[in-house]
Amino acid sequence: MRNFLLVLLLLTAAHGARSQAAAPLTARLDKVSLTFALGPNGQPAYSVSYGTKPVVKASRLGLAFADGKGFDSPLTVLGSEIKDVDETWQPVWGEVKNIRNHYQQLTVHLRQGAAPGRLLDVVFRVFADGVGFRYEFPRQPSLAYFTVQDELTEFNLPANHKAFWIPGDYDSNEYTYTTSRLSEVNTTPIEVIQLKSAPYRVQTPLMLKSDDGLYVNIHEAALVNYPAMMLNVNTQTFGLTSQLVPDATGTGAKAYLQAPEHTPWRTIVVSDNAPAVLASKLILNLNEPTKLAETSWIKPQKFVGVWWEMHVNKASWNYADVSNIKLADTDWNALKPNGHHGANTANVKRYIDFAAQHKIEGVLVEGWNVGWEDWAGNWKEEVFDFVTPYPDFDVRELQQYAAGKGVKLIMHHETSSSVTNYERRQDEALRFMKQHGYDAVKTGYVGRIIPRGEHHDGQWMVNHYNRTAANMARQQIMVDMHEAVRPTGLHRTYPNWLANEAARGNEFNAWSSGNPPEHETILPFTRLMGGPMDYTPGIFQIQLESWNPARNKGRQVHTTLAKQLALYVTMYSPLQMAADLPEAYEKHLDAFRFIEDVAVDWDDTRILAAEPGDYLTIARQAKGKDEWFLGAITDEQARKQPVKLDFLSPGTRYEAIIYADGHGADWQKNPMAYRITRQVVTSKSALTLQLAPGGGAAVSFKPIKK
Ligand code: NOJ
Ligand code: CA
Repeated sequence: MRNFLLVLLLLTAAHGARSQAAAPLTARLDKVSLTFALGPNGQPAYSVSYGTKPVVKASRLGLAFADGKGFDSPLTVLGSEIKDVDETWQPVWGEVKNIRNHYQQLTVHLRQGAAPGRLLDVVFRVFADGVGFRYEFPRQPSLAYFTVQDELTEFNLPANHKAFWIPGDYDSNEYTYTTSRLSEVNTTPIEVIQLKSAPYRVQTPLMLKSDDGLYVNIHEAALVNYPAMMLNVNTQTFGLTSQLVPDATGTGAKAYLQAPEHTPWRTIVVSDNAPAVLASKLILNLNEPTKLAETSWIKPQKFVGVWWEMHVNKASWNYADVSNIKLADTDWNALKPNGHHGANTANVKRYIDFAAQHKIEGVLVEGWNVGWEDWAGNWKEEVFDFVTPYPDFDVRELQQYAAGKGVKLIMHHETSSSVTNYERRQDEALRFMKQHGYDAVKTGYVGRIIPRGEHHDGQWMVNHYNRTAANMARQQIMVDMHEAVRPTGLHRTYPNWLANEAARGNEFNAWSSGNPPEHETILPFTRLMGGPMDYTPGIFQIQLESWNPARNKGRQVHTTLAKQLALYVTMYSPLQMAADLPEAYEKHLDAFRFIEDVAVDWDDTRILAAEPGDYLTIARQAKGKDEWFLGAITDEQARKQPVKLDFLSPGTRYEAIIYADGHGADWQKNPMAYRITRQVVTSKSALTLQLAPGGGAAVSFKPIKK
């Protein structure tokens, strides 16, 4: 762990016991203020404002338990405390070198019923950019263990804000965003994957913009031993009510807890400017520091992989020819090879060679292990064993070959959501990895969960993901989870948990109606608020029918080539794939140079321009270097983006290499036109980037050696 620094100020003042609803309790920092009060019936409520503007109007707090009691009936305030904290810490990896954790904390001690009653604490932390709060259940005789049936937390918004939302599906985040007023939220017409959403239920992080210029983001931090929180939208009053993901019992039970325990933090990030929302470290600050003493084995990195060729139908995950075969009664060993299995030794070597030539650290290989012939049925529990390679994948030879070239293979564990199977086999699977030189794994949870009836985002699965991250940390293995619950800043606690998918990634452009050009301008304001995403940028062969004319006719990725480069900067992740095939990159090595050069770990980040749904420009300084990288992207509108270079070190001359949309570039009509120019610049210079419709620009800045 990198040092935990400076507790500058730590004041504690007891407010003393308050037996009655009495005066409201408040906490504030800069423009953000929080008020807690008991209503006339002893019902707890809070409100948040930013300067003079209301952010959340008086809103209910509380929990309903399965025994019918819970914390929704009359409560008494026993006392409260205020504490101020201002400290700075260094993440193992991240967007900035130092993170300031500055807040005022208000703890309210509540009791239900006559003494001794049941005790509940509500803890609020007020930051300059928002509020976090959680419920804490102290150790007490009358609340040893309990079942949370519902959380009653509300977020009553003052007006009919503009919202950027996806449906509140308990099993998937893989949707395009709808931008609408809260009054128009209706998830029914959305393109459905496996929607089990009520019509007014939306996922968090939920991004909102008010007509009076506030940007508000609602999510949660440190999701541990609890289900994910989604939000039910009241389209008439603009109130949001917490909806926890239920378990498999069908009784509506949400979480099984034993005191002492606490819920995750509910987070409200607020600012009058959009870049400040993206720069917020509130969610990370609310997560626990890592307990790992040694983290030098954790390596932010770029990777290529035997992956996109399956998504564009050029190759297959499975090895055997499955036409005319009833798989249920077939032994895969007896099957004929299908002739286009991607994960074969020779093909993997090609990727290793490419990675070695271009300073790419990792090579992911999917479809290397037996089981892909009938993996997706969600019927049988024993699908993959995670240790048996197909006959054409020589794990020993590839281990040596990769090591000889200084490249690491990245393991793939598709669980097909048979999580019981994965849990039984995980230790053996990790041992296999260690034996064969792997130190990173991409996991996946496609399909319905086994144990049957559990949801991807319920308490049982949340505990599985966290256990997996902890287990891997013990074995010094880095992990990238696909189809897991959306992140809540737990990468602070488990810095080996480099990234997640938990959103609609670039892969949708390969085989569905795709992602609209605005998608990547919204993701940082929504899904990425909780943590890095493995979006898999870097598609250069944008017209896909060149890979498989029969299957991909007319299909293309919704982007320009330059925008794919910009995503390495705008879509923050310590793990970035160069997702296209080597042969696509070989044709455009001049543009690939940006992917080769761009950093994945940063000392500084400047959000230069941002508006959800429209545009985004970010500059970042590479870790330990005076090198900067800039990405600018737009939605379907062409834009001129002026950029002042005052983030560069004064007095230094830099070579700027500008990778821009070419003349006439357009995400639909002319996606692959790009232009690379060079310029000498200083901190006093300015650039004007021309972004094509659906386009972008990427710039690298390196000091010119004297
Ligand atoms: C879905 C993942 O998102 C994708 O990256 C992977 O290739 C497939 N599942 C197969 O595991
Ligand atoms: Ca737009």
